[in-house]
Amino acid sequence: MISSQTLLLSELQHSMQQCRSRTLALIESIDYNTFCTQAHPDFSPVGWHLGHIAYTEALWILQRCAGYPPLLPEYHRLFAQDGLPKSDRVRLPEINTVVEYLATVRAKVFDYLAIAPVDQQERLWKWLLQHECQHAETMAIVLALIGQAAVGDAGSPLNPPRVGDFESERMILIPGGSFIQGNETIEAQDNERPQHEVYLEAYWIDRQPVTCAEYRSFIEAGGYQDREWWTAEGWEWVQKSGIDRPLYWSADNIPVCGVSWYEADAYAKFVGKRLPTEAEWEKAAAFQNMLGEVWQWTSTWFDGYSGFESYPYPGYSQTYFDRAHRVLKGGSWATFPWAMRNSFRNWYYPQVREIFSGFRCVCSAGVRS
Ligand code: AVJ
Ligand code: FE
Repeated sequence: MISSQTLLLSELQHSMQQCRSRTLALIESIDYNTFCTQAHPDFSPVGWHLGHIAYTEALWILQRCAGYPPLLPEYHRLFAQDGLPKSDRVRLPEINTVVEYLATVRAKVFDYLAIAPVDQQERLWKWLLQHECQHAETMAIVLALIGQAAVGDAGSPLNPPRVGDFESERMILIPGGSFIQGNETIEAQDNERPQHEVYLEAYWIDRQPVTCAEYRSFIEAGGYQDREWWTAEGWEWVQKSGIDRPLYWSADNIPVCGVSWYEADAYAKFVGKRLPTEAEWEKAAAFQNMLGEVWQWTSTWFDGYSGFESYPYPGYSQTYFDRAHRVLKGGSWATFPWAMRNSFRNWYYPQVREIFSGFRCVCSAGVRS
């Protein structure tokens, strides 16, 4: 008889291998210069993320779970989250050396997995898998920023899905009532817990994210020059930065991508709507698929749900409960499947637009008939 422990072990091993081959595919054809380039002051080079994935796996599994001494301690300073400032992460070992580091850690991790009390460690292993997913997406972002991966080009691995011809209506009516927000399954991150009931009045929400064609009407109407649509902070930001269009751009029927929260919020006002709250977004996702297009800004500050307990360390989520980060939902075409679900929460400062971010709009029922 196959025990549940054996099943879990093979499930973990399988998903970790699948995830890893997708991570490695991202760097398959890049050169060393690309590997080390800091595309933007807020983002570390692709090669750093790769080393950090291995470092984090060694730290949590080999050191913390297995109790082994640090493996390759010379990498600690370079690849730890709190080791070096981002601008000092550009001096990296050769690509092959970092790839070997990943493989060395992974071999020891799988040796340990075979003898580990995995049923007691399941949450940690699943957290770790999602940690790699999140860094892999950041690698895809950095590659897009330095022009090594096209956003929206046909045939590109980063090809966003086309938004189909709109069915009859742009929006769908979500009936008033309660729903359960959050997630308490074993793969849920600390910030998705605990589940809780939320009551919402009826509202309309976009069936599809706002497209490039739709967003163009905002640009062409002088939306970036019109104070009326912007929050005070957003207006200050747009003046200072001189920004007048999204960072990425695709065909008409493709979701707009590479906008800050300020731009998303301004567009929503321009069309007489608003951004959804996180709860509105999450409830609506039970009525239609809202995953895997672009990350979608919500009007909600990233915060802990009542009864929040940090896991596996306060710096994962809790540090960012500062009323300065906004929640994004849904996942993009670059998000790996293990980190994509309705309850999953991403968070960034409102001025960040280098990520694969777009948005949906909502309006309260009654506003629209
Ligand atoms: C939630 C995507 C903003 O990449 O900084 C990775 C996730 N936390 N390692 C990030 C994360 C620790 C985080 N984001
Ligand atoms: Fe990390």
